[in-house]
Amino acid sequence: MSKSFLERRAASRAALAAAILGAGGGWDAFRRLFRFYRQRDALDLRGVVDFSVPGSQVTLGSSCPRKCLMILSPHPLPFSLWSGFIFIPNPFLPGCQRHWVKQCLKLYPQKPNVCNLDLHMAPEKTIDLWGQSTEQLRRKGSSKREPKSLLEKLRWVTLGYHYNWDTKKYSANHHTPFPSDLAFLSEQVAAACGFRGFQAQAGILNYYHFDSSLGIHVDESELDHSRPLLSFSFGQSSIFLLGGLKREEAPTAMFMHSGDIMVMSGFSRLLYHAVPRVLPNPEGTALPSCLDQALPSDLPVGSVIERSSDEDWQVCAKYLQSSRINMTIRQVLAEGQKFPEESGTNGKGQAASEDSHHQENSRAKRHKPNPDS
Ligand code: OGA
Ligand code: MN
Repeated sequence: MSKSFLERRAASRAALAAAILGAGGGWDAFRRLFRFYRQRDALDLRGVVDFSVPGSQVTLGSSCPRKCLMILSPHPLPFSLWSGFIFIPNPFLPGCQRHWVKQCLKLYPQKPNVCNLDLHMAPEKTIDLWGQSTEQLRRKGSSKREPKSLLEKLRWVTLGYHYNWDTKKYSANHHTPFPSDLAFLSEQVAAACGFRGFQAQAGILNYYHFDSSLGIHVDESELDHSRPLLSFSFGQSSIFLLGGLKREEAPTAMFMHSGDIMVMSGFSRLLYHAVPRVLPNPEGTALPSCLDQALPSDLPVGSVIERSSDEDWQVCAKYLQSSRINMTIRQVLAEGQKFPEESGTNGKGQAASEDSHHQENSRAKRHKPNPDS
């Protein structure tokens, strides 16, 4: 099972060669690998780096000036910031991931936060997605034919400064309070990685199912790129592709498992990346074993983690059997910085089409208008 780094690196090259040979001409290297890993049948995963295997380490592509990745075992948090990309394999204490999953499903989709369903449903219909979905989710069998609950139709939620999918901008007048527990988690993780004073000002929560993917993009809408971007993953695993400053550069493929945290800072802050695929939990059980653990009876004083009821967790667990949730947290403005004056718009237009975010069954995609990312 555990292959050496060199073996994995060789397999990665082989996968790349296969992807290139199997593809038509004219595609950039990133898109080729995106297509390679998006395929559903007989997917060769030997080239995918798995940081849950101790000692995993890779270097990024040729445009990266220094070694980019470092990985340490879960505790304590790593401090090394080579070229700014930090992968922290699940550092969550037992039971804590459950809190964040419940917040992503029960609390954060609530008003005044914004979600994809708001774009073409009457406001009164999206007030209580959780309440409207729990019964349906609990009863749900494995048949794909059953109608989807509203929670299963959720694709994204935005927090704080709400990202406008059409203009690709944040603006001063479309802002709601950022959840305090998530701001605290983000500040702690950022500080542990050397970024003191990080302010969680915007969040994009992504909700994935086995047929979802996230197109190739760079997160450049934030006005201060010197602040890191934090990413938290829960539920089923996925493949993450991290490329270079140009789309021509072939990306490195890595697994993101439940609880894993990525910090994109420094040089890595503006690298192309994508999520071509969500994969069933590699342990072979319906849910990753790190989610089996409940919270210990004594929580640390001042903890932002709340104990969830068993009933709520059962709903979350059912949802996660076929889903992955990712939270990306951003600081938009530098300390004391203001948005530039806007001309002609009120900045409120959140009128993106619902599908502009995720690629699902190869429909439209996010960030980049180019076909097929
Ligand atoms: C994003 C992003 C990665 C993920 O939301 O910008 O890159 O794992 N998400 O969902
Ligand atoms: Mn991104």
